[in-house]
This record gives sequence, C-alpha cells and structure tokens, in this order.
Amino acid sequence: MATHSNSRCSPRAWVIGIIVTICVIIPIISLIAAYTANQRKEDTHIWKGQGTTQNLQDIVLGRCYNYVTMNPGIGKKNCDAIWQALTGAVYKKNPCNITQEDYKPLADLALQTIPCNKTLLWSKTNSLVHRYTKASQDLLTLEDTFLGSMFDSLMWCGMSYSSEMNYDSCPAWNECDNNAISAFWKMASATFAKASCGVVNVMLNGSADGGVARKESILRTVEVPSMNVNAVSEVRLWIIDDLEGPDKNSCDTESAVELKDYIEQHKLPFSCIDNYRPVQLLQCIETPDLPACKLCKS
Ligand SMILES: *[C@@H]1O[C@H](CO)[C@@H](O)[C@H](O)[C@H]1NC(C)=O
Ligand SMILES: *[C@@H]1O[C@H](CO)[C@@H](O)[C@H](O)[C@H]1NC(C)=O
Ligand SMILES: *[C@@H]1O[C@H](CO)[C@@H](O)[C@H](O)[C@H]1NC(C)=O
Repeated sequence: MATHSNSRCSPRAWVIGIIVTICVIIPIISLIAAYTANQRKEDTHIWKGQGTTQNLQDIVLGRCYNYVTMNPGIGKKNCDAIWQALTGAVYKKNPCNITQEDYKPLADLALQTIPCNKTLLWSKTNSLVHRYTKASQDLLTLEDTFLGSMFDSLMWCGMSYSSEMNYDSCPAWNECDNNAISAFWKMASATFAKASCGVVNVMLNGSADGGVARKESILRTVEVPSMNVNAVSEVRLWIIDDLEGPDKNSCDTESAVELKDYIEQHKLPFSCIDNYRPVQLLQCIETPDLPACKLCKS
C-alpha cells in the first residue's frame, strides 16, 4: 500500500519544506549572522589607548636574545616560548578581562634570581631612576630585569574572537581594571618584589604633587604587599628633590611618614634618606653650577 510520504514531491512535502525553512533554517542563519556580526563589532571596538606596538614580535624576540647574550648568568631561556606565552595570555580574550594569572606561564619562562640588596623600586621618578641604574650598574629596576626589559615601553592587546594582536587600539592603563597592560605590569612587579631580598631601595620624588606614592600606586598596592618578610631586611626610601626644587616631600613630611606606617604594617623594617648623594651627583651632570652640586659645601 503506497503512502503519500513515499513520493518526494508530494504537495505535503513541499509545505513541510517551506515551514522548516521559515521556522528553522532562516532563524538559525540569522542567529549565526547576528552572532558573527556581534563578534566583529566587539573586535573592532575602539579603546582609548594606543594599539599594539608595530613589529612587537620582532622587538620582543630581539630584546630576549639580546638580554640572554649580554647576561649569560641568567641561563637558558626559550625566546620563542616566551612569545607564545604572551600570545597565550591575550589571544581570544577581551583585553579588559586579562588577569595576572593569565601571565603566569610567561613569568615562569622568564624566571630570574635577583641577588640580595640589588632591588631598586620607584614611583614618579621614571627617567632619573633608569639613568641611575645605567650609571651605577649595582642596582636593578624592574625594567632592568629580563622580564621587564623585554616589555618596557611596549603596548599590546588581543581581541575577543581572533588569534592576533589588535594594532588599532588597546585599553588605556585606567580604562578598565583588568586590562592586558596593567595586568602584565602588576604581575611583573609582584614577581620582582617577591624575588627581592636584603635591602630594598625605593627612589621617590620629593618635588611631586600629591605625596611620594599614591594610594593606588603599584608600590603600595602590589610591591610592598608582595615582599617576603623573611627575606627583606629593610625597605630604604630615597626621597629625591629636583635640584631647583620645590621641596614638597621629605623623610619627615606627611606622605613619607604615612608610607613608613604602611611599610611597617607589613612587618618590614624601614629607613629613609633625603636627597641620596650619588643620585644628586647624577642630577648635577646637567647643571654642575647649582649650589647643591658643589663638591665642598661650606
Ligand atoms: C573573562 O575571562 C574569564 C576567564 O578567562 C571568562 O570565564 C569570562 O567569561 C570572561 N568574561 C568576559 C566578560 O569576557
Ligand atoms: C646587604 O646589605 C646589608 C646591609 O647593608 C649587609 O649587611 C648584607 O651583608 C648585604 N648582603 C649582601 C648579600 O650583600
Ligand atoms: C618629580 O616630579 C616633578 C613634578 O611632577 C617633575 O617635574 C620631575 O620631573 C620629577 N622628578 C623626577 C626625578 O622624575
């Protein structure tokens, strides 16, 4: 006994086909289209910061090989794996949703022993502190370490749905809490502070407005809390005024005393030096005739 369903082109099959098309296939296709359009829209979102640094991969690999060559004591490091770990931290992720944990594999590959008494932290003295470590060679800032030197002054971020960097724009430092750049530097700062031992020096700005270190500074929120109280024997502040002033902050002014209390709350011994002379001599290179630069002060 033949039935209608056996005949492919029966009117009923056509009707069912049209209903299936209208009720199932078209909605699915438009959902997929809307979804990919939404993905594309999210990935072309314009952030407030600069985009990824041009030639990022070449720069990172070059800096990596250079550091390993100039500092053979650091041992074997796999620069390609380091690049892969960077991409692993940010590809296919919203650049405002990156955690310090995402950079853990990168930190592990860049592991470095920091000798005791060598750490120099800083806040609001960016250019002077790096001139100082280049001139004196006996202390290290984060940017002189392997991890910090590879990524210093570079910008990068990925995109939510694709495996590539975003060269058009990236979240600015304060645009969102967990952005690709701030998460990296918080992780790198925490790693450096954790690895520090002996005397930890901190170069601060005695001429800056708003005190020596803001409440939300990396120094207060990340570095001091990360220090190992059994390894750090002292946190020594150097408060450096611009040679021609103003002298807004010193060891005995409010913001430094407040920072002292904060450091001591973390069970770390504290000391403080105003206008540490070796740094002052470096400042004097450009203006040797100023009174503060006289070798014999009467
Ligand atoms: C943020 O990242 C986490 C883990 O990678 C993920 O589970 C979560 O869905 C993400 N949130 C957003 C808003 O992208
Ligand atoms: C670190 O400095 C302290 C105090 O100046 C000193 O006692 C100690 O021996 C130094 N440690 C190293 C490893 O140089
Ligand atoms: C200290 O802060 C002042 C005021 O912001 C700035 O002009 C100066 O360059 C800073 N000094 C150093 C050493 O960075």
